[in-house]
Amino acid sequence: MLSPNIRKFKTTIDVYRTKLEEQSAQIQDLRALEELHHQFLSRKRGTITLLFEQLKEFDPEEKPAAGQLLNALKNEVQERFSALETKLKTPAKPKGEIDISLPGEKLYWGAPHPVRLFQQEIENIFVSMGFSIEGGPEIETDYYNFEALNFPPHHPARDDWDTLYITDKLLLRTHTSPVQIRVMEKKKPPIKIIIPGKVFRRETPDPTHLPMFFQIEGLVVDKGITFAHLKGTLEYFLKRLFGERIKIRFRPSFFPFTEPSAEVDIECLACGAKNPDCRICGGTGWKEILGSGMVDPQVFKNVNIDPETYSGWAFGMGIDRTAMFAFGISDMRYFFENDLRFIRQFTLK
Ligand code: DAH
Repeated sequence: MLSPNIRKFKTTIDVYRTKLEEQSAQIQDLRALEELHHQFLSRKRGTITLLFEQLKEFDPEEKPAAGQLLNALKNEVQERFSALETKLKTPAKPKGEIDISLPGEKLYWGAPHPVRLFQQEIENIFVSMGFSIEGGPEIETDYYNFEALNFPPHHPARDDWDTLYITDKLLLRTHTSPVQIRVMEKKKPPIKIIIPGKVFRRETPDPTHLPMFFQIEGLVVDKGITFAHLKGTLEYFLKRLFGERIKIRFRPSFFPFTEPSAEVDIECLACGAKNPDCRICGGTGWKEILGSGMVDPQVFKNVNIDPETYSGWAFGMGIDRTAMFAFGISDMRYFFENDLRFIRQFTLK
């Protein structure tokens, strides 16, 4: 993953790249080209020159990455200018003839969506540990979304998962956990799966809530599985995702389908646990990122797996929310506005 400084610098570079593309598309004559050249490459106040000044402020270990990004932009600027210069200096051909000397038109590429990129990164880590990927329906029955997961009708825990009902018994799933039940009904242990997918809640969109978002669920069931497996696997996963030095803590919690349950926090990447007024972590220095626990024996009984023989652990994590945190994005709604200038800013590694 790129460091926050480099990511920020890359965003700046991408903004200038878009500017360059937009402005050079409008160039009609050599004078306008000259002006644009001045704007980007002037020795005193050219955009590129000023960006090179900023390099001084990076730590020595970040400098090469920042320099690479900037040099790439500089090369693009120069290539674009010489292509435009050639084009503008070449006398116009009579209509109807194909001018094979013209530079090709640049295609306007799209980019992988940041949520999808982040999901793939997570999947790669789990697949490398031998997990396989499962999926399930986005329209669920009350039974799979709630009852089989040990939320009886009218149980107060249901209130946390208020959702969009289609009929009394059919609803848009509120979490990926129902797929745990669907898989355990069909497969016998050992089970070692992750389940990425869309989920829905009755939320008014704001910077940290959307009525549709993505989760990833994990489930491991076998003989002799303990809380130590849960802790070890999740720690390994989070270190691969956020870097070896990330601080992690497990906090007791409650979910109807796990016993005991734990929520997992990581240190706040926005303030480095240093700002008492941090808007991301509220000054606590920690940010909750997932729920987990040992599969409740009642859940095993619901799928005819003998809880005396088998045990298991599970977790569920919000993909968009975690991606927001990892990429330093302040508003979740950006993800779904489909503005290419936003979408194209993200790459992993
Ligand atoms: N389904 C829970 C939610 O949406 C998250 C969760 C918690 C999933 C604990 C789990 C788990 O598998 O064990 O908030």
